Amino acid sequence: MTAVDEIKIGGLGVSRRRVEDNRFIRGKGNYIDDVVLPGMLHMEILRSPLAHARIRSIDTSKAWAMPGVRLVLTGETMAARNLAWMPTLSYDTQAVLATDKVRFQGQEVACVIADDPYIAKDACEAIMVDYEPLPPIVNPTQSLAEGAPLIRDDKENQPDNVIYDWEVGDKDGTDRAFAEADIVSKIDLHYPRSHPSPIECCGSIADFNRATSKLTVYMTTQAPHIIRAAVAMVAELPEQMIRIISPDIGGGFGNKVPVYPGYVASILASILLERPVKWIEDRTGNLISTGFARDIYLHGEVAMRKDGRILGVRMQTMADHGAFFSDAQPSKFKIGLMHSAFACYDIPNAHLLARGVYTNKAPGGVAYRCSFRVTEAMFFQERMIQAAADDLGMDQAEFRRINFVRDDDFPHRTPYGFLTDSGQYAKCLDVGLEAIGYRDFLKQKEEAAKRGRLLGIGISTMTEPLGAGNSREYDILGIKMFDSAELKVHITGKALLRTGARGQGQGHETTWAQIVAHELGIPAEDITVEEGDTDTAPFGMGTYASRSTPVAGAAVAMVSRKIRAKARKIAAHLLEISEEDVEWELGRFYVRSQPDRGVTIQECAVAAYSNMPDGMEPGLDNTAYYDPPNLTWPFACYIVTVEVDPETGVWDVLRLVAVDDCGVRINPMIVEGQIMGGLTEAYAMASMQFITFDAEGNCIGSNFTDYLLPTAWETPGFELHEVVTPCPHHPIGAKGIGECAAVGGPAAFVNAVIDALKGTGVRNIDMPVFPDRVYEALQTGKDVSGAPPVRTD
Ligand code: CDP
Repeated sequence: MTAVDEIKIGGLGVSRRRVEDNRFIRGKGNYIDDVVLPGMLHMEILRSPLAHARIRSIDTSKAWAMPGVRLVLTGETMAARNLAWMPTLSYDTQAVLATDKVRFQGQEVACVIADDPYIAKDACEAIMVDYEPLPPIVNPTQSLAEGAPLIRDDKENQPDNVIYDWEVGDKDGTDRAFAEADIVSKIDLHYPRSHPSPIECCGSIADFNRATSKLTVYMTTQAPHIIRAAVAMVAELPEQMIRIISPDIGGGFGNKVPVYPGYVASILASILLERPVKWIEDRTGNLISTGFARDIYLHGEVAMRKDGRILGVRMQTMADHGAFFSDAQPSKFKIGLMHSAFACYDIPNAHLLARGVYTNKAPGGVAYRCSFRVTEAMFFQERMIQAAADDLGMDQAEFRRINFVRDDDFPHRTPYGFLTDSGQYAKCLDVGLEAIGYRDFLKQKEEAAKRGRLLGIGISTMTEPLGAGNSREYDILGIKMFDSAELKVHITGKALLRTGARGQGQGHETTWAQIVAHELGIPAEDITVEEGDTDTAPFGMGTYASRSTPVAGAAVAMVSRKIRAKARKIAAHLLEISEEDVEWELGRFYVRSQPDRGVTIQECAVAAYSNMPDGMEPGLDNTAYYDPPNLTWPFACYIVTVEVDPETGVWDVLRLVAVDDCGVRINPMIVEGQIMGGLTEAYAMASMQFITFDAEGNCIGSNFTDYLLPTAWETPGFELHEVVTPCPHHPIGAKGIGECAAVGGPAAFVNAVIDALKGTGVRNIDMPVFPDRVYEALQTGKDVSGAPPVRTD
């Protein structure tokens, strides 16, 4: 007898095929709209056509009179139950159904519950709302202008449209650094609104059973336990009588973290009607009302010595949060983790000043494939770095290299106070430069320029914080950030694993089993993974911000170790030796002095139910709650080469090289899939995805004809490389990966186009870098801003 072969049982590092795909590719997934309950009714939402208007009256009589209509909800109905407003994750309030005013186009005004969705939709159209239009505010400049209309006149102590002013860093030290600098580089940027646009929109089915007093809600949520707690608190229902089931989710990307009015209204409707009520958001509803991200302006400054060393950084951000401050983020920092910027650079001084304002737009601030503003942070960082290198006249790769945190300088305190713990930044850059053929490309670019061709190369290097908690610093509505795993090893040695995370396509059912296989030697195919049902899964904080592997994945390793510790006692009993004489190798315990005498983990499982030592509790189950000591800090280097057509402004990606270091890879194939998906989204944000607002506050980009999703046709090919620096505090050395490429990718594309335009005087073109914007920049030699409502192209 020997240890089991980890590769054969699908353990760590194996590119095991995704088990969940067995149902997904056969069309057998169980998404929210697949769930049909007996007696189920359907809910539709009436949305505001105006961005800012007072509601004079709402006449629902015609809707009530329509056959098949069971209930019409308005703000008044909600207010009677104290549910017209709900708390947001950022300690603001958000209207569930509007009572006094509408504050953005698409805001929820009324709901109709009917026998089928078509009746409900028709009845919505029969509701007469008398609006008194008010001047709409669609950007921070208008919001802060003297005499600007007050958007949140519902709030006490809200004299203007400013939500917060917040700062972090050492202002005096940074001022001194700037006074001593040889060169100061300055740049103004806008990260435009963008939308996660998962293939499946949001939805819920609330099912209140009066006989049992149990409320079951099927819901597209990335965080079922948090929703359960929130429903218990807001609706004042007993938590044990609430069951949230998050079935298969067709992509989340942060869109499915917040609580939306549709969820709340469907729950109230089910309680009132004592029937299941289904709400399925349509595409336009999704694109104009739920889940906006970004929309931040930056004025950035970098102070440098002539030799290229950065002495200090200043960042002033202005965030357009829309009508309600509902950023989905668990930190005490007003602008999320924006101050994780420059974490991979060794910079002695930094200061960040952040302001947030209300506008007449849908609430923004969803962490779209992002750890709470980290995408904006890394985009600003890498655009500032490239501009600084250009202003200095230094090679952009060399500039990064001389400012990187060195491999022997960990743990490292970042300029804004985070603690990074590991990485090989220069090595990742070198692998990337080698792969792209950096020096050769620079020569090629020079040669091409002589013939009027514009080639450019863009680099983006970053480390980002993934895996919130720890519980000391991160909480959602006071609930501390940690996660959990429960493992039940059955008598036959097969196992059931449940975690507090909730995958939305990331492959948890595959990779969590691989961690158990690595820890216990039970073949991955013998382990079933379940997530997303609060009646069965252990309490956890859900999946977003690439936190699953850093936190729930760690809990999986820890619960497996608890199981192994008990199995060791059982093995000692079976082998009739003392526990100290028991040795472990994968899948098996043996007698130290007689390696041939041993018992397998499966034999221990049998004994746990049939032949346990005296005094031992039967069974082989356990639960682990994991509170990570720190965030994990993966590193990435993305390099893009482009050619810009000077006649049209069209730019084509020539090559894209990605070097990712996410520590130990559980499943390399899944990791590569995550990187490719992230790069695709990065390319989309940089090149084509456009949601803006016209001067009236109309949302431009409310459908997939205007808001483009990239297909395999236009997406460039990716060349992937890896570096492995294990995370020092994660039980298996893994760091998160899910969002890295979406976070770091956009700057590489924009940097490449700006590099191609070097020498023309153009320092910035806002995303999406449309050909007409590039063309205009080439014609005028000036930056092109895409900030609303200036540009609605
Ligand atoms: O939280 P989320 O699942 O979105 O992100 P993640 O923790 O970065 O994991 C995404 C997928 O990649 C999961 O299936 C992970 O288990 C897998 N992964 C991996 O195989 N190795 C890593 N070092 C990190 C993630």
